[in-house]
Amino acid sequence: MKRGILVTGGAGYIGSHVVKQLGAIGERLVVLDNLSTGFADAVLYGDFVEGDSGDMDRVETLLRDYDVDAVLHFAAHTIVPESVADPLKYYGNNTCKTRNLLQCCAEAGVKHFIFSSTAAVYGIPPGAYAAEDSPPAPINPYGTSKWMSEMMLRDLSQSSDLKHVILRYFNVAGSDPEGKIGQSTRKATLLIKVAAEVAAGKREKLLIFGTDYPTPDGTGVRDYIHVSDLADAHVQALRYLRAGGTSVTLNCGYGHGYSVRQVVDQVNRVNGLPIAVEEQPRRPGDPPELVAAVEKIRRVLDWTPKYDNLEVIVRTSLEWERKLAVRRA
Ligand code: UD1
Repeated sequence: MKRGILVTGGAGYIGSHVVKQLGAIGERLVVLDNLSTGFADAVLYGDFVEGDSGDMDRVETLLRDYDVDAVLHFAAHTIVPESVADPLKYYGNNTCKTRNLLQCCAEAGVKHFIFSSTAAVYGIPPGAYAAEDSPPAPINPYGTSKWMSEMMLRDLSQSSDLKHVILRYFNVAGSDPEGKIGQSTRKATLLIKVAAEVAAGKREKLLIFGTDYPTPDGTGVRDYIHVSDLADAHVQALRYLRAGGTSVTLNCGYGHGYSVRQVVDQVNRVNGLPIAVEEQPRRPGDPPELVAAVEKIRRVLDWTPKYDNLEVIVRTSLEWERKLAVRRA
């Protein structure tokens, strides 16, 4: 029987897109998710187990029963302002549970570990571009909780046979182009999701946080990456590790950015009608511009993005949001 892959948080936005791609190529999957933010019906392949990635007994059993050789760890809380208001929730869920999971992996002799990290580990870098060797300097507990997990993983890899790929996600957006799954996150705060909710009539308006940044049009610039390209980066990372690759940290982005106004213009074009916006002061903690240096991921992984196109990102987001609106009605 084929060796298994444990996917924690596989019922969530990014995890479910990775499960879809791994399932489609015939991988044997077991998905562990406590459904705190995920949805069981987003898991299109593999066996779904409702439970917590920090539950060591449960994890130990799954690693044994599925003869797991690789773990992909998505389960985490991801809302930056919430992490500021309730830091221990983030250190408990993101950092402590990752420690428990790593202990189970070490004890079971799991060889490959792929970890969902974030551009938030960079904090506010001096220039627009953040490279993997830029010193991490997170400015919120969310970023710190992920950075601490990165360090545990690095140390464990040095002291054992486990090899890892840390993927630092920039601004993930868009939904499965086949329309089977998408971003269903409740209480969304991310720009493209919020804009799509306005276009679909779920929200009244989009607030633009800051119009006086030192950027070409005064609004914040980010590197938006389509979730299906990000999912493919995980598939390639797994291939890399199984081929004997050494532990590595890689940015996941396209290497160029769009401003909030450019995103809004694109949403208006796809929507056919302008969405309501309101200009607001800057949101505390937002860097003016944050773009991934992408030379390393392109060199190390055989990863060729397919959806590096803002129109596609926005269109797939809107299509999914309209589906959700029909379900709600
Ligand atoms: C933040 C984190 C990032 C994390 C992501 C998901 C930081 C610096 N970044 O990304 O690491 O992975 O959340 O948790 O901590 N904007 C508006 N109106 C809105 C929403 C956003 O104008 O309603 C603007 C923001 O000011 C920013 C851009 O849109 O310029 C993107 O913001 P957002 O989608 O919230 O993501 P980040 O803050 O970049």
